Amino acid sequence: MTSALVSPSALEADRLETLAAFYAENLTLRPRFSKASRWARRVLSGPDHEAWLLAWLPGQGTELHDHGGAARPAAGALAVVSGELTEYTVEPGPFPRLERARLGRGGVSAVGDRTVHAVRNDSGEPAVSLHVYAPGLEAMRTYLFDETGLSPAAIKRAGEDW
Ligand SMILES: [Fe+2]
Repeated sequence: MTSALVSPSALEADRLETLAAFYAENLTLRPRFSKASRWARRVLSGPDHEAWLLAWLPGQGTELHDHGGAARPAAGALAVVSGELTEYTVEPGPFPRLERARLGRGGVSAVGDRTVHAVRNDSGEPAVSLHVYAPGLEAMRTYLFDETGLSPAAIKRAGEDW
């Protein structure tokens, strides 16, 4: 019997949040910090999903981005291993707006395959996070956001551009 109460996308979000939290709790790789940019390493690559470890010094962050564009969108989730991150998510609609959420240690956030968001370390301390993507992340499309709305800016390739 199928349930009308839980959508497939909600189940997938829950699964990815659970995976991100599990990997965050069972890390064996120590993150590094780079003054030049946030540090990122793919720590797991499977047939169904992959995981990345990211390390953020105060002030470091991403641009607004999606997770693969229209051709191969990935859903995902992030879990904060240490420190605090702020997630800025574009709420779509005729008048899109940015919603801000603070994520402390142990906090998790699901990212839909159409989500456009940015993640920043707006705190005064270093932060570490674990990100899961399904399918694996090949590219991110970055966006500009102003009073006229959201417009695509650039394509960034996984492992080369971040
Ligand atoms: Fe993201």
